[in-house]
Amino acid sequence: MILSGKARVAGVMGWPVSHSRSPRLHGFWIERHAIDGVYVPLPVPPGRIETALRALPVIGFRGVNLTVPHKESALAICDQLDPLARRIGAVNTIVVGEDGRLIGSNTDAYGLVENLRRNSPWRSGNDPIVVLGAGGAARATCVALLDAGAGSLRIANRTLLRAEILAEELGAGVEAVDWENRGDALDGAALLVNTTTLGMAGQPPLEIDLSVLPKAAVVCDIVYAPLETPLLAAARARGNPVVDGLGMLLHQAQPGFEAWFGVRPDVDEDLRRFIVSDLQG
Ligand code: ATR
Repeated sequence: MILSGKARVAGVMGWPVSHSRSPRLHGFWIERHAIDGVYVPLPVPPGRIETALRALPVIGFRGVNLTVPHKESALAICDQLDPLARRIGAVNTIVVGEDGRLIGSNTDAYGLVENLRRNSPWRSGNDPIVVLGAGGAARATCVALLDAGAGSLRIANRTLLRAEILAEELGAGVEAVDWENRGDALDGAALLVNTTTLGMAGQPPLEIDLSVLPKAAVVCDIVYAPLETPLLAAARARGNPVVDGLGMLLHQAQPGFEAWFGVRPDVDEDLRRFIVSDLQG
């Protein structure tokens, strides 16, 4: 695509940013919709994030995505925050307003729930949900599920204290579970979500005994490299419906793209195939 002088510009800030899939993902949609626009990787070191964000309106950027390690520090820099980003404690999408204000939001929660709704039989209700992990990804997951109407969450984490702090903060219906008891916590669960780094390429596998997990329970891993983690393989083998982490990545990108480029893009099989071949390439 050859740009005009009116091209819309957006990107992703991270450090490092070279691993980010977002330029390929947004680039796919830009090409599909023949948009006069571009989405670029922006390597920004941790101490420079405020300067980089403040420059966006000056140089005419429509906005950016944020990845590690900027999601939390951006909270204090944005001029306006959506309540969800505040509750999650992280910003992954910034839109530059007409007046140059930086408007921060968090679309990870939307990505998770949309992925579950579109790709699994899980529907919110009072059946317990087990979340493994208590870091930033777990926080976004729990807030998303509670907002979607989940009535009962069990958070199991290696460091129990982190799970207890998160559970306390999230309030009624949320309990912390000892890591040793993660298998027992699956009793009667309708959904299991792994938000830990276990099972990711280069990390140890997630060890968990699935024997008491109901066969109808949906098992979701937010890890997407590999696409089928050992957890998902084990769950699939015993007949549970499974949802991989790639769908969340694809769906979280939709709201930002629409805000910056003015078109609501579709998450479909062509896009998925394109990103999967990228992950394998
Ligand atoms: P993020 O913000 O991406 O969620 P994080 O805050 O580093 O990242 O959280 C990583 C999660 O994986 C944590 O829940 C971590 O458990 P601790 O809170 O005990 O650190 C979990 N995790 C990482 N390595 C683990 C391991 N070897 N065994 C069990 N849990 C692990």
